[in-house]
Amino acid sequence: MTAIEVSGLRKAFGDKVVLDGVDLTVPEGTIFSLLGPNGAGKTTTVNVLTTLMVPDAGTVRVAGHDLATDARAARAAIGVTGQFAAVDELLTGEENLRLMADLHRVPAAAQVVSGLLERFDLAEAGTKLAATYSGGMRRKLDLAMSLVGDPRIIFLDEPTTGLDPRSRRTMWEIIRDLVADGVTIFLTTQYLEEADQLADRIAVLDQGRLVAQGTAAELKRRIPGSHVRFRFADQGELDSAARVLPDGTRDDDTLTLRVPSDGGTKSLRLLLDRLGEYSLDAEEFSVHTPDLDDVFLALTGRPSTEENDK
Ligand SMILES: Nc1ncnc2c1ncn2[C@@H]1O[C@H](COP(=O)(O)OP(=O)(O)OP(=O)(O)O)[C@@H](O)[C@H]1O
Ligand SMILES: [Mg+2]
Repeated sequence: MTAIEVSGLRKAFGDKVVLDGVDLTVPEGTIFSLLGPNGAGKTTTVNVLTTLMVPDAGTVRVAGHDLATDARAARAAIGVTGQFAAVDELLTGEENLRLMADLHRVPAAAQVVSGLLERFDLAEAGTKLAATYSGGMRRKLDLAMSLVGDPRIIFLDEPTTGLDPRSRRTMWEIIRDLVADGVTIFLTTQYLEEADQLADRIAVLDQGRLVAQGTAAELKRRIPGSHVRFRFADQGELDSAARVLPDGTRDDDTLTLRVPSDGGTKSLRLLLDRLGEYSLDAEEFSVHTPDLDDVFLALTGRPSTEENDK
């Protein structure tokens, strides 16, 4: 079944077009990642898909319900963790969850709340005010709150922004566990690695348009291939190496030679043997496989971190 189906989605604020004809499909039980720099339109997309904002044009079906005619039914199937934590700082973690449970009229609320605190490793912190939580704890509580009511489709708007690497990994594990339970995840991120790690499918959003869609591997295939980078001790060595490996691109400033290669052991050995034949020794070598940053650059002609000022 299809969890989310979007076609021809448009949204403008005044004369500023923010979503310019977005089409996407998310199969049930998968992770879909919307990748884009600041201002690309990620939060606007999430707002529309979660019924918080009405689009100017296009159709959206969530859990089989058309948002234009059946927003209430769609709302019952989803959980949302917004870009900015919805946690009430003046309540404890437990009280925050309890509030959500009451809003959702969840039966056996106390049990659901303690279960979620346990699952997110917040049992001990549960009785403390959320104001005292670290950023990672707050994010976890926020996500726990969106799970009250057992939603089948969860929207996460930049769930790991500002988290340290360890908390990010914890969050990834939680997300993977949810998907293992059959939940569908719609995730926005500015972290290319995050989309690469988690997503079954990635869509790259740039200035309100999807400039590419596919698996991480498919996107990587669309850009210049991998290469091996050799650094030499001096100009003379670099000169000789460039003659021995004529496919390479040299950089005289850094004394490096970039040679196209799949980076596998076999081709690496060939390259090293070839240098060895001429008694050439690289000071250092590294294998570079393209990451999603390279994908973004190749697709949009701009680095992913650049602000999108039209
Ligand atoms: N309510 C609004 N009124 C006017 N302009 C808006 C409104 N909401 C968003 N925008 C504009 O729409 C564009 C896209 O914003 P959006 O929040 O969707 O981007 P984003 O991809 O989520 O960015 P970020 O990574 O910074 O969260 C921005 O230029 C923003 O200024
Ligand atoms: Mg945003």
